Amino acid sequence: MLYRLSGVAKAYGPKEVLKDATWQHDPGRIVGLVGRNGAGKSTVLRIVQGLVEPDAGKLHTAGGTTFASLDQAVEPEGDEPLRAFVARALAHLVGLEDDLRRLEEGMAQSSADTGLEDLLSAYDEARERFEREGGYEAESRVERVLSGVGLPREVWDRPVGELSGGQKHRAQIARLLLTSASVLLLDEPTNHLDVAGIEFLETWLRERSEKAGLAALVVSHDR
Ligand SMILES: Nc1ncnc2c1ncn2[C@@H]1O[C@H](COP(=O)(O)OP(=O)(O)OP(=O)(O)O)[C@@H](O)[C@H]1O
Ligand SMILES: [Mg+2]
Repeated sequence: MLYRLSGVAKAYGPKEVLKDATWQHDPGRIVGLVGRNGAGKSTVLRIVQGLVEPDAGKLHTAGGTTFASLDQAVEPEGDEPLRAFVARALAHLVGLEDDLRRLEEGMAQSSADTGLEDLLSAYDEARERFEREGGYEAESRVERVLSGVGLPREVWDRPVGELSGGQKHRAQIARLLLTSASVLLLDEPTNHLDVAGIEFLETWLRERSEKAGLAALVVSHDR
């Protein structure tokens, strides 16, 4: 179980948006939340993230569950190149890579009686973690997601602040898709994607689920 809503109610003034909403989201499940305009879909996403308090009922979030959503996404601004903006989702890998390099330098300067063995085992551990977290594929993943959401190679070096509104939105989706949050919350992500982009999104969500057991909650008008 990643999180569970039990008996959740939410009203805005006289408008009852949610009433007795109960469900549970399990790891790896890709759930579609489909409903008409104003039905309360975005409200559900905010409650799940703890951004909005329910009037009644409970949200229970399992320890270790992490969420990522466009609600909390960073606005693409300034002169950071698009590729770097998107790759920041994988910033923790850069830290791991720095660790590896430091350990390599340490090993080059040590010998059997100055702790080489300890460094070797620390290095093995760090390298294993880097590999497990996809460090060696990071660059190709960034490129695949950029192309997938419809941001062609020609714009990868362009400052994010200079992109069109639609491109900025796709940049945010791309960055979101690269995070390893256990639940991706996507509120009508297809609005700024073309058919190829939507197909890519489906494939990517399925891969995250199958390979890494990561889940998603996708809001759409379109079943
Ligand atoms: N902060 C708020 N203050 C007042 N009313 C709100 C607030 N947020 C949402 N509402 C109202 O609650 C209802 C549900 O809103 P919500 O945004 O959750 O619907 P939705 O299903 O996401 O709609 P859409 O498909 O148009 O995005 C709507 O009638 C909306 O006007
Ligand atoms: Mg909405």
